[in-house]
Amino acid sequence: MGALKLLLLLVVSLSVAAAGKSSHHRLRRFEAQLHLKKLNKPAVKSIKSPDGDIIDCVHMAHQPAFDHPLLKNHTIQMRPNFHPEGVLSGNKMSSKGSEPKPITQSWHLKGRCPEGTIPIRRTTKRDILRANSVKSYGKKKPQATVRPTSIDIDLNGQTGHQHAITYVEGGQYYGAKATINVWSPKIQHPNEFSLSQIWILGGTFGEDLNSIEAGWQVSPDLYGDNNTRFFTYWTSDAYQATGCYNLLCSGFVQINNEIALGASIYPISSYRGSQYDISLLIWKDPKEGNWWMQFGNSYVLGYWPAFLFSYLTDCASMVEWGGEVVNSESGGQHTSTQMGSGHFPGEGFGKAGYFRNIQVVDGSNNLRQPEDIGTFTEQPSCYDVQNGKSGDWGNYFFYGGPGRNPNCP
Ligand SMILES: *[C@@H]1O[C@H](CO)[C@@H](O)[C@H](O)[C@H]1NC(C)=O
Ligand SMILES: *[C@@H]1O[C@H](CO)[C@@H](O)[C@H](O)[C@H]1NC(C)=O
Repeated sequence: MGALKLLLLLVVSLSVAAAGKSSHHRLRRFEAQLHLKKLNKPAVKSIKSPDGDIIDCVHMAHQPAFDHPLLKNHTIQMRPNFHPEGVLSGNKMSSKGSEPKPITQSWHLKGRCPEGTIPIRRTTKRDILRANSVKSYGKKKPQATVRPTSIDIDLNGQTGHQHAITYVEGGQYYGAKATINVWSPKIQHPNEFSLSQIWILGGTFGEDLNSIEAGWQVSPDLYGDNNTRFFTYWTSDAYQATGCYNLLCSGFVQINNEIALGASIYPISSYRGSQYDISLLIWKDPKEGNWWMQFGNSYVLGYWPAFLFSYLTDCASMVEWGGEVVNSESGGQHTSTQMGSGHFPGEGFGKAGYFRNIQVVDGSNNLRQPEDIGTFTEQPSCYDVQNGKSGDWGNYFFYGGPGRNPNCP
């Protein structure tokens, strides 16, 4: 009798637990559905990319930026008032063996977005359900960016993020530029990522950091695959409440109908083979104060309105360039997730990842060679960085590595 009662109790409590779980699931799916409805705007035209993405061509005036309460009456700036000028165009061909080639996006193979629209990568319910919560979808974790002089944050394993970067600090920076070659690093665990980017920074790390970021990334969690994608990010409070990747929240105002944020880029560099690179330029319009972004030499993509930021309403106090990976150390071993090409900087052109012609924009709107460039990496035996200077490449560096190896157990 006692045993039967116990069994009944067990059955009842198990089924209550199961019901709780499935209603929790239903709630999440419902939340995800609502969020999708907000993110995915009605399209004028949709394009099915060969990589599986859907690219929606959305009327410029219906883009996510205009969900922002402070953008309700905003007049879109169709072009920047100023464009930084410099001696180095940054697109000079290399004299170091085979020449890097220009790059585009996979979805162009299947169509283009009409004038007056912008291409937006459609978010799927699966994308959102992969995130820890609907709220965290499209956002970096707090403390996602490292202050190069305080390696203790990462060495005590609080964040598990590893970097190999160069940086300048202490000046007044109104923008930055770099040409980055593009790779397809292997990711060991779906919750890890590998990215290569520019950071434009102001404020205090971990507290009220303002950051504008752009580059390429492989992030199975965010996109559901291992494709290399062009991305942007912004935050005005150290990744806490504000900001997101791409157009996954309101903020960035896009004006360009050719490049989609978060879409795959193509082709990719190959080891000992052809090298493909992208040029990225971010600069502050001295008249309106907005931060503009250009992809390649001809695609002006749009801008982050000045009011999104606190410190960056004026200028940046630091710029970083380089790679970042997540090391989740599963099984107590260093991750084998690669950074850059997955090869160390010492291997050089054609084999290692590089940033070339790195430049900053000064207070007179000129592109300049950065001065007093620092380098930083938590564990050079896992991922390393080596900088240099030459005629064609200006200030450049090679960076990256394989992660786990005999010297990085
Ligand atoms: C937008 O314009 C309307 C009408 O002029 C005004 O009432 C409203 O306060 C404005 N909103 C913002 C956020 O400026
Ligand atoms: C991504 O690559 C890893 C190996 O690097 C593989 O195990 C995984 O299945 C791939 N994921 C997808 C979604 O293709």
